[in-house]
Amino acid sequence: MAEIVGVYGTTHNPLLWRARGDDLAATRAGFERLRVRLAAARPDAVVVVATDHLTQWFYDTMPAFLVGKAPLVPATFWNEEREFGLPYRELRGDAELGRELLGGGIERGVDFAASDAFRADHSVLLPLLYLTPELEVPVVPVFTNCMAPPLPSAARFFRVGEVLREALEDSPVERRVAVIASGHLATEVGGPRHFAGSPSRAFDERAVEWVASGDVDGALGELTYKRLTEAGNVSHQFLNFLVAMGVAGGKPALSAEGAVSRFATSPFFEWAP
Ligand SMILES: [Fe+2]
Repeated sequence: MAEIVGVYGTTHNPLLWRARGDDLAATRAGFERLRVRLAAARPDAVVVVATDHLTQWFYDTMPAFLVGKAPLVPATFWNEEREFGLPYRELRGDAELGRELLGGGIERGVDFAASDAFRADHSVLLPLLYLTPELEVPVVPVFTNCMAPPLPSAARFFRVGEVLREALEDSPVERRVAVIASGHLATEVGGPRHFAGSPSRAFDERAVEWVASGDVDGALGELTYKRLTEAGNVSHQFLNFLVAMGVAGGKPALSAEGAVSRFATSPFFEWAP
């Protein structure tokens, strides 16, 4: 069986990649802390729960949840190289593990879509550039629809996390697997609140508290689409952390921090495997 050896959550804000400044010290420290923890867990593969930012899927074709089961994962897109200075990389995939997640999910009532011909945008690449800088660990992206409403419910995101754990632990494939959820706290892109600090510090504090205390019921009770969008127009990418909470079985996090910066408050979470 596959063994889950670490569960993490972090930001994927691409503007962080070439940003400099003392106000980012806490953000850099957050990435470094998770990098050390992930390295100590010695994963054979990482499952990255991330969201395509309308770079390859749009309103006309948008999977709710999709497993990327390719042996090679191209990352990122030319416009993200240009806009954010992100490097293009070809990541190693883990197609065998991807197939296990696909089949295990469907057996348990999560009808994942699947693709062998996808690309990964910054939501996959940026966390890996910080947490596995050598990009040596094979990756299975699980893409979630946090971009094109109607979105799946918060409860569905949590359930997908529970199913990922069950599918991994029942898999005959021998792997040490880390799960990295890639998302946001309160964040606004475009318009007058565009990365002008957090658009809702109140939401950030509440969200970190749900994670820290393992308050799944509290999170599910409040995380409506309306509540999320009031906290910023891409704050719904917090839902990827509900997947991590599901993988962690709803337990309180080992650590949960929101690092304040000029862009937004960056989440750095770790749960016991
Ligand atoms: Fe995002």
